[in-house]
Amino acid sequence: MIDLRSDTVTVPSDEMRRYMMYAQVGDDVYGEDPSINLLQEKVAELFNKESALFVPSGTMSNQLSLKVLTESADEVIIESNAHVFYYETAAPSVISNIQFFTIPSENGEMPISEVKKAIRPDIYYFPKTKAVFIENTHNRHGGAVISIDYIRDLRKLCDEYGLFMHLDGARIWNAHISTGISLDEYAKYFDTISVCLSKGLGAPVGSLMVSNSEYIKKALKWRKILGGGMRQAGILAAAGIYAIENNLKLIEKDHINAKRFAKSIAEMDYIDCNLDSVQTNIVIFKLDDKINDTDFVNECQKRGLLLSTVGENKIRAVFHLQINEENTYNSLDIIYDTINYLTEGN
Ligand SMILES: Cc1ncc(COP(=O)(O)O)c(C=O)c1O
Repeated sequence: MIDLRSDTVTVPSDEMRRYMMYAQVGDDVYGEDPSINLLQEKVAELFNKESALFVPSGTMSNQLSLKVLTESADEVIIESNAHVFYYETAAPSVISNIQFFTIPSENGEMPISEVKKAIRPDIYYFPKTKAVFIENTHNRHGGAVISIDYIRDLRKLCDEYGLFMHLDGARIWNAHISTGISLDEYAKYFDTISVCLSKGLGAPVGSLMVSNSEYIKKALKWRKILGGGMRQAGILAAAGIYAIENNLKLIEKDHINAKRFAKSIAEMDYIDCNLDSVQTNIVIFKLDDKINDTDFVNECQKRGLLLSTVGENKIRAVFHLQINEENTYNSLDIIYDTINYLTEGN
């Protein structure tokens, strides 16, 4: 089965498993796990921030960031399709008691003029605008890279109004590989950052919140409150260390396969794919109205290809560590056959 549903589906390689097996471990609730400490130091250094905190998931590192940046009844400005708003099960209202002000965009970059308009006046009957959240690369916008010029402009606006900025950098690794812009250059515009080890990097579990020491100290308490204080989890952190050292450089291959796939698919009948929007490892394409997206996904699955639907008759294909050039070409054959099957007699 070729699984293009997400880059979260990777399983650890034999080398990664070996590295995990020999990891030094200790009780991390006492701060005594050498592998976790090493990973945290390594990631903080990569992003040139004071500190980093290992957590079980990207959802937790986003939510911890939100928790340390806001107080109850605050408002946070976020793009309408952001993961934190769309897929984190209303956690911000449960954990931080805040609300979002959402702004739609074409590519994950909310128009700066709209962000400015959304900032609330300082009057008691309005919520207090506290922060702006950015997702880079942007999952539901097909892995779009948020431009560094945009980030700088947004930071300027946030500084003018005293707002914090958070980066959901689950796939900041892909933005870094695609643009060549360093991780610390991206990081310097943000107060808090969430990065994932279990997507493009191919580790089985784990994310980190990266920030200054004060916010990480506060997040450490909230990680415990939320049940995320783990014990000998260095075995998992080791996979993260292995992934950063060995798999980061392999992300380029995922971008090449995604572009290769998109180029072919754009030439197929009954499929519309905007090649300009394919910037990293995610391809979103639209099916002609004659084809139902669920039928399409089911028929592809019968032929050995897993894809996901993302609404509006759109399909998502995500390229990752376990997809090579041959799988990419095979997936195109399966899609071609499926389209022919579903449009026979048209
Ligand atoms: C952009 C983005 N942020 C955050 C997350 C959450 O990560 P996790 O599934 O580890 O909670 C995801 C997961 O797919 C994501 O795509």
